[in-house]
Amino acid sequence: MSGDTIRVVFTTPQGGTVQAEAAPGDNLLRVGQAKGLPLEGTCEGQMACSTCHVIVDPDWFHRLQPASEEEEDMLDFAAGACRTSRLSCQIDLAAELDGLAVRVPAESHDMRRT
Ligand code: FES
Repeated sequence: MSGDTIRVVFTTPQGGTVQAEAAPGDNLLRVGQAKGLPLEGTCEGQMACSTCHVIVDPDWFHRLQPASEEEEDMLDFAAGACRTSRLSCQIDLAAELDGLAVRVPAESHDMRRT
């Protein structure tokens, strides 16, 4: 069905909330970028950077397709990575992900204000 809307809730590095609407098959990185979130996605989904790193809400983490080995390797390099970290470029949205909640980590290692 083409009418399906998948809502995604992003938490910004500043703690704000940004709601996005997407369609099945949309890529999470692109959805976040379209909303102006600071997801660089430098390598455009080639798994050669980790600038599309997001932290998935623990309630949602296990509902995603598991990360590939390459993705796990890349996540080792992501600043502030944690147990529920993913590369957003590797997440394609599907109807069952309606309501997905992810947090965009701060861009740099410097946790103090810039
Ligand atoms: Fe580079 Fe996702 S955009 S790994």
